[in-house]
Amino acid sequence: MPDARPQPITAPRIRASKRRDGSAPLVMVTAYDAPGARIADAAGVDLILVGDSVANNVLGYEDTLQVTIDDMVHHVSAVARAKPTPLIVGDLPWMSYHVDQADTLRNAASLIRAGAGAVKLEGGRIRVPMVEALVAAEIPVMGHLGLTPQSVHAMGGYKVQGKGVAEAEMLAGDAKSLAAAGCFAVVLEGIPESLGATITDLIDVPTIGIGAGPSCDGQVLVMHDLLGLNATTAKFVRRYADLATVATEAVAAYAADVRSGAFPADAESYH
Ligand code: KIV
Repeated sequence: MPDARPQPITAPRIRASKRRDGSAPLVMVTAYDAPGARIADAAGVDLILVGDSVANNVLGYEDTLQVTIDDMVHHVSAVARAKPTPLIVGDLPWMSYHVDQADTLRNAASLIRAGAGAVKLEGGRIRVPMVEALVAAEIPVMGHLGLTPQSVHAMGGYKVQGKGVAEAEMLAGDAKSLAAAGCFAVVLEGIPESLGATITDLIDVPTIGIGAGPSCDGQVLVMHDLLGLNATTAKFVRRYADLATVATEAVAAYAADVRSGAFPADAESYH
């Protein structure tokens, strides 16, 4: 029986998706478990990011610095079990690619073995040796520049990056270095839209923006933000639903039915 499912989207296909060459904007969304992956798949996105933002959105931590490679393997595995068509990108958490190349390769390999088709890491030219080592080991790498949440302490908070000329030039140089080192795409987070456009023009691989303006080659949002599951969100988030309210009302209706004796009904009971 031939497999009717569409072919999984690959890193080389994403690498070739530059808008200036006629490609449609790329769509990436986070997912951290199998139901999230099924929703993203059914919605037809191009990439699923199993982000270290699982820390804030699911695990109740204040920042992303708390998640470990074992946490990420757990969540990448759950997403991969849904067998989604979009490319699964597994986020390398803080300190999983900072020590040495052997450690970086081992950690990235564990995400690939869990089912990711690529890994993502944060930082600019300083990461080039790690990117080159990963690419040499046949692991597709996505870069991440700008407001990189793993640098929260170094940045002094979650602040828009690249506002000054020197800082903008530094980020543009970082983007060129990551692309030259072999990254197949680069996430740009929390930078002025003009810098998002400049970097998108400058490099030959797609940029995927989150708070980086409309000129990027694609966009990414955290699923919990766009579904309205989080009480507070950043300026760049657009909420497409208010699932927190819908879910609270549903659970409250169930609680009321149990307390009034309306649940379970005859049809919900075995005879
Ligand atoms: O972990 C994450 O969700 C991310 C996105 C914000 C790009 O890195």
